[in-house]
Amino acid sequence: MHDRPQAEAPFAALPYYENPTPAPGPLPARSWWATSDAARHSLNGTWDFRLTPTADGTGTAFLGDDPAATADWDQLAVPGHWVLQGHGNPAYTGVAYLFPVDPPRVSDENPTGDHRRVFDLPETWPADGETVLRFDGVDSAARVWLNGEELGTFQGSRLPHEFAVGHLLRRTGNVLAVRVHQWSAGSYLEDQDMWWLPGIFRDVTLLHRPAGAPTDHFVHADYDHTTGEGVLRVECDVPGRVLVPELGLDLATGEQARVPVQPWSAETPRLYPGELVTAGERIALRVGFRTVRIEDGLLKVNGRRILFRGVNRHDFHPDTGRAVDLATMREDLVLMKRHNINAVRTSHYPPHPALLDLCDELGLWVIDEGDLETHGFCWMPGWAGNPVADERWNPALVDRVQRMVERDKNRPSVVIWSLGNECGRGAGLSTMAAWVRDRDPSRPVHYENDADYPDSDIYSRMYAPHAEVEAIGRRVEPPLADPTLDAHRRSLPFLQIEYAHAMGNGPGGLADYQRLFETYERLQGGFVWEWIDHGLTKHTPDGRRYYGYGGDFGEEVHDGNFVCDGLVLPDRTPTPGLLEYKKVIEPVRITGNAAGGTLTIRNGHDFTGLDHLAFTWVHTVDGRELATGDLAVPPLAPGELVELPLPPAPADAPPGEALWTVHARLARDTAWAPAGHEVAWGQFTAAPRPAPAPARGPLATPRRDGAVLTLGPATFDTRTGRLTTLAGLPLAEGPRLDVFRAPTDNDRGMHWEKDAQISVVWEKHGLHRMRHRVDAVELAADALTVRTRVAPLSLDPALHTVYRWTADAEGALRLTVTVEPTGDWSSCPLPRLGVRLGLPAAFGRATWYGGGPDESYPDTREASRLGRYAATVDALQTHYVRPQENGARSDVRWAELTADDGGGLRIEAGERPFWLTARRWTSEQLDAAEHTVDLTPGDTVWVNLDHGQHGIGSQSCGPAPLPQYHLTAGPAEFGFRFLAIDADRHGG
Ligand code: GAL
Repeated sequence: MHDRPQAEAPFAALPYYENPTPAPGPLPARSWWATSDAARHSLNGTWDFRLTPTADGTGTAFLGDDPAATADWDQLAVPGHWVLQGHGNPAYTGVAYLFPVDPPRVSDENPTGDHRRVFDLPETWPADGETVLRFDGVDSAARVWLNGEELGTFQGSRLPHEFAVGHLLRRTGNVLAVRVHQWSAGSYLEDQDMWWLPGIFRDVTLLHRPAGAPTDHFVHADYDHTTGEGVLRVECDVPGRVLVPELGLDLATGEQARVPVQPWSAETPRLYPGELVTAGERIALRVGFRTVRIEDGLLKVNGRRILFRGVNRHDFHPDTGRAVDLATMREDLVLMKRHNINAVRTSHYPPHPALLDLCDELGLWVIDEGDLETHGFCWMPGWAGNPVADERWNPALVDRVQRMVERDKNRPSVVIWSLGNECGRGAGLSTMAAWVRDRDPSRPVHYENDADYPDSDIYSRMYAPHAEVEAIGRRVEPPLADPTLDAHRRSLPFLQIEYAHAMGNGPGGLADYQRLFETYERLQGGFVWEWIDHGLTKHTPDGRRYYGYGGDFGEEVHDGNFVCDGLVLPDRTPTPGLLEYKKVIEPVRITGNAAGGTLTIRNGHDFTGLDHLAFTWVHTVDGRELATGDLAVPPLAPGELVELPLPPAPADAPPGEALWTVHARLARDTAWAPAGHEVAWGQFTAAPRPAPAPARGPLATPRRDGAVLTLGPATFDTRTGRLTTLAGLPLAEGPRLDVFRAPTDNDRGMHWEKDAQISVVWEKHGLHRMRHRVDAVELAADALTVRTRVAPLSLDPALHTVYRWTADAEGALRLTVTVEPTGDWSSCPLPRLGVRLGLPAAFGRATWYGGGPDESYPDTREASRLGRYAATVDALQTHYVRPQENGARSDVRWAELTADDGGGLRIEAGERPFWLTARRWTSEQLDAAEHTVDLTPGDTVWVNLDHGQHGIGSQSCGPAPLPQYHLTAGPAEFGFRFLAIDADRHGG
């Protein structure tokens, strides 16, 4: 417990909601605990509600007992946001304040929700002691009355506020009234990039405080890695005993004990159940022993450098906004653990407190971040008016950081305090940091947005390109002007507090970052931006569900779908980006050298060995499993590697592409996944894919017959030279060059940096309106050759494209495509290079041998492994909230698209495997769609067979794809072999 900052009341003349200075009324900040023997009573539920457009509300008749006062009110679920329950609308801006900037004043337009709830005390509610009324989160300013008496006011949306209410409570018929203003002085401090969502959105609880119960306690549980001992001391404002039976501990509060323990870490979340026993209350403790230090320029826990494999997480649910229930919180964390994520930054405010309890239990490192962002001041010259640089705001700033630290100080998972996000610079931040260091010297302090880092124990960046990260890793970053500050920054460990912007398709380049993190000890990992797409549930008039984003709710000012930039879709379906991240950060690396007969296993954990994993191997030829077995892996300490002999290859293996795949799976059930869950894998080649057999002759001779050209089993259009049928199978469109893709969010770049967008380059080069001119259709004895010029409307560069068709003696049709660019393509990489064809809608099943099972692109293909896969065309799609290019499968050796009766088309790769994409709409339709429901299946399955794809990058808020992932326009040649599959025949 700590004293509240003393208000200097510089803004005393303003109404309470415009006065940032913390008002008297709420109790001092203190810790939050989930379980004790003191009575508690939830006031969550259905409340009476009325919305008015201005802060005055419409009178105070509702404060009293008269039920008539709310006779014409609506009902509202609490916790909840009124804008998501039919009263007003949510609004999304990334940076912009939704009122004129004139701190601390807001506008007259200030939606105000009056909430009222009548309640009885439970019959068992003790008559003695005190009772506290707690609000865990109210956005953004509240005034509270109980039984007609005002309790006080508060701001600080994502922070708890408590009032002593015992003297006002009745056994029955209590009237709790809460007036909530959407805008307040606090809104200036809450300019996080997210929906503006007013309301009582976290729990409201009555807590009985028996006589002799503590107000607060502080668990200090360090781990001495040199002796293996835990050091425990529990501070408490009333005397009591601290019991930890498993450790045989029975201590007085304030007393310190040293005992051998198993330490807590994100990998081994060892918690010792205990109790704090005082005269008035028994409080359940869950003690995790761990020590966080910055030593030798590294962040260490329990004496070891740790590597964050993190995500930025908001509290979010597509139906209820930031009102999130326990099951959803657990779902988030379980999903993270299953995807090898070991850290969460609670961007950009303290989460629901129960989330941190779950992090303690499941094992995740947490950077707990203050409810503070003043980003909108970046648009004022020199950040004029920025509250963190105006000392009149200091009481509000300190109040915020106190409420976080006091609330969450007993969580072992919290290893770093973050002051807030994107507030520029200012002395207020230093005041906050000083308070934190004094109150809790056991955890480092983080703040990113001041390049000098005067207040941060960590050198932290957002979206830094790979080259900059590498320079920092090598400790050769350009110096700061001030040598003292430079020396300080040089002494700090480094984190990418946000990177790899996961908006839409992507992020690309994750593996390249991870290599750096695993190479340079100073680089202690990063936090992908971000965990979840904040799409809000909407329905079409005919009842189809989709997710809305900025601009879908009538906002005057908004930032579109920039709010949908997560690794999971709004309904928490993992995106391919999450699967890629899982592979990139896997804590075990499995590589092989088939020629040398060995495989190597490296333990990338920070603390644990590998005995929680079971290893198996599979030997496949052309994707068919020939042999499988267990792999004994000797104990490996963190960071160690071992080279093991490969099992003998199966003796009677048929010829073909042979692969070893090694899996590391959980050997036993854990709290977050059952035994058998795959943690890591490696795949390597035993025998490479044989070169495709040359065509077996004699080759068929093309023949012209009126409007039809025949070549072996195929017919072509005489004039265009386009394939029309293959062995009776009608094509909606024969293969033709295609270079267009529906720009991804990363292609579209940062909306505030229009020139950097590759999608604009593509548009300027007319890639969305290419024209195909047929220059010649040539018949030779053994081939049909179609010469074309493919070029954008209005411009002169061109891709001279020649299609050479042959038909071999096995009834297959072969196509070789050669592309020769002319004109200036130097500034225009191609989105894709390949052919597109159209098949009848019935061909809705895909089977392939190649990369899978999920989507991948050149810089997002770590998670793609070679195998045989099957999926419907519908299931090949990734339903990004804003439709865009998606669904490619890499390294395809062959693919079949078939109807329910088994008939269809088989496509085999030429020299080089291809990228397969199939969808029920064209890329142009995909591009035109703004929401998933804009896409409706047509009568064609459109198939792209690509020789190359441009990388994805993360330029929606970060770097473009690295040069090695660019698809530069240059001379190219690629080919395919097509076979019709009869309904009764099976390919493969
Ligand atoms: C960062 C910011 C995040 C989010 C992200 C882009 O600058 O901290 O809150 O806006 O960019 O999605």
